[in-house]
Amino acid sequence: MLEKREHWGNRFGFILAAAGSAVGLGNIWKFPYITGENGGAAFVIIYLLCIFIVGVPVLIAEVLLGRYSQLGPVTTFRRYARKHKTFWVAAGGLFFLTGLIILSYYNVVAGWSAGYVVESISGHIAAFTSSGDAAVHFQALISSPWWILSFQFVFVLAGGLVVYFGVKNGIEKIARLLMPVFFIILVLLVIWGISLEGSAAGLRFLWEPDWSTVSFNTVLTALGHAFFTLSVGMGVLLTYGSYLKKDDNVFFSGIMIALLDTLIALLAGLAIFTSVFAMGFDPAEGPGLVFNVLPAVFANMPGGSIFSLLFFSLLSIAALTSTISILEMLVSTLLDESNLSRHRVVIGTSAMIFILGIPSALSFGKWSHLQLFGRSIFDVMDYLSANILLPLGGLLVAVFVGWYMQKREVHDELLRGFGDSYGKRRVTAVWFDLVKYAAPVLIFLVFLSAIGVLK
Ligand code: PFF
Repeated sequence: MLEKREHWGNRFGFILAAAGSAVGLGNIWKFPYITGENGGAAFVIIYLLCIFIVGVPVLIAEVLLGRYSQLGPVTTFRRYARKHKTFWVAAGGLFFLTGLIILSYYNVVAGWSAGYVVESISGHIAAFTSSGDAAVHFQALISSPWWILSFQFVFVLAGGLVVYFGVKNGIEKIARLLMPVFFIILVLLVIWGISLEGSAAGLRFLWEPDWSTVSFNTVLTALGHAFFTLSVGMGVLLTYGSYLKKDDNVFFSGIMIALLDTLIALLAGLAIFTSVFAMGFDPAEGPGLVFNVLPAVFANMPGGSIFSLLFFSLLSIAALTSTISILEMLVSTLLDESNLSRHRVVIGTSAMIFILGIPSALSFGKWSHLQLFGRSIFDVMDYLSANILLPLGGLLVAVFVGWYMQKREVHDELLRGFGDSYGKRRVTAVWFDLVKYAAPVLIFLVFLSAIGVLK
């Protein structure tokens, strides 16, 4: 229903909410383990290049498109694609689909982190005597359908509740409350990690590159993760941008969001690798890194149970502010395309997300035998969305803003709210070229390499 659109209380509210979307499991759970699997510092450097050459320009383009249209993704394309409308509406549909896929499995891992808050309080984590104990316990939990589905349910419910209250009273309020708490906990964990004896090896792992481990697949992973971590390429930031007023500065807000996200990923990496190395554990543990290895680290440290509680609360907060952003994109798409009320749409979408997430949730236990291309259902969802659908979505945004909109229109929209900073025309011209040429070409090349054309 195209009723009057809600707006953020102010620009800071938008930055916090968008940073809340960007900062998530991607920063604390995924970034450390893919860095661990891909050889440490060399991966971090490629990832940073992907963020700043491709991720940030496309992020700004996506927010700009939303602010321009003041609509959700599908309706934006329906209204503003001058040519090839069917194609672009389908592209909006692809964003919606990507959101459904990501949210369904994202809630599963979010549920684990909420479950581990309970494990920390109940004293289970403090009782581990070795990393073997921690791994066995984790495996037992994630293969128990009851445990996994109930925490997944709690998470879907929490996200649904926030989005039910809308943009200003739900999403913005929760971001203002939780993001500062999040940051304080993270800084405490970093100080703790660095103060551990033997933490220097963790620092070296993050700062000293070993290029021998780098392949095309490393670059694909880095690029996919750049989109994933910034929440770019599926219309979430377009939706958040559509709640911006015309006098907000899209360019600087975009840069702030990316800087916050990158800073937090690096800090999370610091907190995790210093403690993992201090205890002599394996950094290339894979998706189980923060659930298999960290609890054992906490159990063997003085004050570990408090830090364990802090860490899993951190993870849960990060996950919640991201899940609500994806849910909001789905809800806003449906609201703009139908006559339904927000409340009904939130309830229906949340129920659908819970059901869609069940196969991923069970793929660690009861349904672990169900495999596609040698991967579990969960892994297929993750690979498909992060490595293929998000870069593809980013490519679509870049092509739409760079090639389909009129250059004048794009520049006017970007400069609105920009202020009078010196050199702004040059900065915006560079940005435009990155969106128009660099981003599509780089994303395309990485895709070619992924399907084996470029070796
Ligand atoms: N950026 C989030 C993270 O790093 O965990 C995940 C995410 C949220 C991806 C929203 C995509 C999205 F649209």
